[in-house]
Amino acid sequence: CLAFGNASAQGTYPNHPISLVVPFAAGGPTDVVARSLGASMSKTLGQSIVVENRTGAGGTLASTHVARAAPDGYTFLIHHNGMATAPALYRKLPFNPLTDFAYVGQVADVPMTLLGRKDLPPGDMPAFIKYARENGDKVNLANAGLGAVSQLCGMLLQESLGAQFTTVPYAGTAPALTALLGGQVDVLCDQTTQTIPHIKADRVKLYGVTTLDRIQALPDTPTLQESGLKGFEVKVWHGVYAPKGTPPEAIAKVNAALRAALKDPAFTQKMTELGAEIVPESKQTPEGLQTWLQTEVDKWGGIIRKAGVYAD
Ligand code: MLT
Repeated sequence: CLAFGNASAQGTYPNHPISLVVPFAAGGPTDVVARSLGASMSKTLGQSIVVENRTGAGGTLASTHVARAAPDGYTFLIHHNGMATAPALYRKLPFNPLTDFAYVGQVADVPMTLLGRKDLPPGDMPAFIKYARENGDKVNLANAGLGAVSQLCGMLLQESLGAQFTTVPYAGTAPALTALLGGQVDVLCDQTTQTIPHIKADRVKLYGVTTLDRIQALPDTPTLQESGLKGFEVKVWHGVYAPKGTPPEAIAKVNAALRAALKDPAFTQKMTELGAEIVPESKQTPEGLQTWLQTEVDKWGGIIRKAGVYAD
């Protein structure tokens, strides 16, 4: 890009809008974080951040797109745990999350909630556990594809229940939640950044939260662990990436804008209302994201290989 053609032009970056790629459907939990984050970061950068939803293959099409995009400082990716689970889930993954990207930093951690359609018979989690064990083959579980955290949560759920559901994949949990609200599917495990408004409006059955401790945004909701699924935990984390080779000056500017957004009440208050927690400063850096990603690749690789779930 011309903005990096010579030293004197470096100060001009960014001189046109930046694309922030979201691997799932518009209106869903990743999209909610991306749009709010992008709006705050654009105030610091003086350029708009345009969210681009590139759905498919559990988020891996978006990651592939960004890994191959021009490393000019104008294409970024926001992704969650799916970045770390993809190498174990996809045997023919066209990118390596540990070597094909430049890292900007982490954003926020988000709990998940287990939801049922409003008229699903069980009234609470202990009743759902019994129902799922007796009727597992009749239960439809929506998710956002192999590599989505909704899939990861659903996989752990079936494993800990000893039940086998029928999985229905969507391009994101926004259409999956629409299907749940319409009664076309029975169960969905999804992030609070999308589910809290629907929980508060009493449009779904809420069976529990996926963190080990109860969360501030839903203080009366038991954890799945409390309700009998010992050790059950899924926490969603988000990182911002760029194609490998992106100029360090661009990474530094975008990282500064990210860190400013993580202190901006317009962003942080919205995240708090939606149950998300801003990551500590040590994780808001390129090194913080890279180190964490390596840990997560190792952790989930082990769990997924043991479960034997993968796509050829
Ligand atoms: C989304 O944004 O649709 C979700 O993050 C998908 C998922 O379950 O991972």
